[in-house]
Amino acid sequence: MASTAVADANAGGFGVGAAGVGQVLDGSNPAIVRLRQLVDGPQSSEGWRRCWEQGVTPWDLGEPTPAVVKLVQSGTLPGGGATVLVPGCGGGYDAVALSGAGRSVVGLDVCDAVIQRARQRLSSGSTPNVTFVTADFFTWAPPEPFHLIFDYTFFCALDPSLRPAWAARMDELLRPDGELITLMYLPQDQDSGPPYNTTVFDYEEVLKPLGFFIESIEDNDVAVEPRKGLEKIARWKKTPAGTETPI
Ligand SMILES: C[S@@+](CC[C@H](N)C(=O)[O-])C[C@H]1O[C@@H](n2cnc3c(N)ncnc32)[C@H](O)[C@@H]1O
Repeated sequence: MASTAVADANAGGFGVGAAGVGQVLDGSNPAIVRLRQLVDGPQSSEGWRRCWEQGVTPWDLGEPTPAVVKLVQSGTLPGGGATVLVPGCGGGYDAVALSGAGRSVVGLDVCDAVIQRARQRLSSGSTPNVTFVTADFFTWAPPEPFHLIFDYTFFCALDPSLRPAWAARMDELLRPDGELITLMYLPQDQDSGPPYNTTVFDYEEVLKPLGFFIESIEDNDVAVEPRKGLEKIARWKKTPAGTETPI
């Protein structure tokens, strides 16, 4: 019964969301129940691979999230040779959307099956400035740190015990003058995860001690249903070494 319900919930396989609509991401959704069975521990790379292989991907919109499109259109992102990392990129739609204007983007995911699919989709399109990499965010060693890192539904997907390590990696992977953009999905009433209960303070708690500060934060007014009212977008910078963190 449960597997039929999950199959129904994921009727489209990869990219299950109808345009502009996501699934309910809590325990009332059989696909979330199954996801939680598959991702069963803090270091569950294997669990995430099983999710993708079995089509248990209730978070997947099958298209870029509207906030990324809005960001790109805003003209406020670095261009002209800037390098961008999208960790836990999943289907890679946001990574592709962030390319252009001279930016080169790396979409990183621990699941090779989804990275292969993202590469195939790329080869049928015309976005040469995107590279998809299969690797573990916590151990991957790129040649150079990035100008921009974009995180969406990665922080909230990780076991909360990994949050300090997530922040330390952001610090290592970002240039000192770089920018971290967190599109924060902030669920409050989860019994477990993923996605785990998350607040803005949870981000601040791990990022601020490393010298990150919020340059701007606003509600995501273009969130898909049913994430409306549950998302904020924050743009973080790092304080130059030896200076005080702005309040
Ligand atoms: C909730 S999904 C979000 C995917 C994508 N950001 C989106 O919004 O559609 C979390 C993603 O993180 C990936 N992931 C989990 N742990 C990872 C790790 N340690 N390193 C890299 N990717 C990881 C999973 O395979 C999955 O694709």
